[in-house]
Amino acid sequence: MDTRLTSPRTCLLLVLTLLAIPAIPSRSVAERPDRIVLSRGEDAATTMAVAWRGGGSGVQIAPALPGPDLKDGAISVEAESEDIETDSGTWEYHSAVFTDLKPETTYAYRVGSGIHWSPWTHFTTAAAGAKPFSFIYLGDLQNGVRSHCRRVVHAAYREAPDAAFMLQAGDLVNRGNEDDHWDGWFESCGWLVHGLPLVPVLGNHETHVVTVNDKKHYNQTPPLWKGLFALPDNGPEGLEDTAYWFDYQGVRFVVLNSNHERDKQAAWLDDVLAGRGDKWSIVSMHHPVYPSAVKRGTGKGRVRDAFQPVFDRRGVDLVLQGHDHSYMRTGLMRHDPEIDEHHVATESDTGTVYVNSVVGSKQYDVATAPFKRRTGQNLQLYQVIHIDGDALHYRAYTADGNVYDEFKLEKQRDGTNRLIEQRHGIGENLQPGN
Ligand SMILES: [Fe+2]
Repeated sequence: MDTRLTSPRTCLLLVLTLLAIPAIPSRSVAERPDRIVLSRGEDAATTMAVAWRGGGSGVQIAPALPGPDLKDGAISVEAESEDIETDSGTWEYHSAVFTDLKPETTYAYRVGSGIHWSPWTHFTTAAAGAKPFSFIYLGDLQNGVRSHCRRVVHAAYREAPDAAFMLQAGDLVNRGNEDDHWDGWFESCGWLVHGLPLVPVLGNHETHVVTVNDKKHYNQTPPLWKGLFALPDNGPEGLEDTAYWFDYQGVRFVVLNSNHERDKQAAWLDDVLAGRGDKWSIVSMHHPVYPSAVKRGTGKGRVRDAFQPVFDRRGVDLVLQGHDHSYMRTGLMRHDPEIDEHHVATESDTGTVYVNSVVGSKQYDVATAPFKRRTGQNLQLYQVIHIDGDALHYRAYTADGNVYDEFKLEKQRDGTNRLIEQRHGIGENLQPGN
């Protein structure tokens, strides 16, 4: 036995060394602001919102400067605070809305308190009218959110570093009422959404599961969702946190909660789109109008029947969805209750393009059909969409950076779109025999 480690001299040295090390203070995560998420306001040219957890309710905003003296020109903004109970304890969440901002202006902001401020972080407001821009669209992260999603989020940001925001079409996490799952989401996305506004869509996996008479109901918006995101408060009554809209440089974006109360939202959507003027309109919701997973069947039903007639009537250009853990993009489609897998898209079609996509590691077999112009499975994808005047340019990329799908929409004088598809060398990633 080596006695050198236990000699009196060694023990004395060890004790002295330990005494010299300052004690590690017990620290609650809430001491410092974390989970900081930006969101666009209804008018993206003049407003911005932020939500965060812990760290105090202070908020400061200043014009961006070339040097470090940001606090000299900073003004304070009032925040709202709320205690939210989660499975990991009760946490204080805060939110604030920046208003009366100047269009096309970069600001620095920070949240927290005089003791622990977040880093100063920049955001830029939208132009007051139509102007070219890009945004990122992602399908479900949900599974492998810690292990497999960060590389995709990174790749999307590298592809579009000037993106106006990142839209995530629901099922951001697997269990939305479990705090640890959100920790995983912040490991993948937290570094980015501090400065790049997030447009979150409520999926079925974010909702509370309530069991009544042994039947599961996925209809409850968890309190955590309301704490995590400061979203435009312009949805239909009772759905203000999960259905909302905002305008960005000539495009009206509408987010729906496809989990429930669809008829109520359809009436609201009709009004929101009627007032959009000549803007493009893009809708996002979690459940797809046209399912792409084999296991979902043809999906005739409630989501399609509730919303698609409104999309047709109001000329929605593009619908961005998730839920089916595979990739699918249609031609120009209009509502047809009898549509089946034999329907063929033609060049003279008018209507809306529908996309389902996925980021996370859970993958379903994809169901092909002639009207599904591009499909794929066992793929992690990100999408970048660019709008410039009368043209919308869409690209879907695989996680390793190859273009998997690409098309353009050109707006015609009568308001309908012409679809121009781009074929690439990369083949469709399908199950053998499909
Ligand atoms: Fe889902």
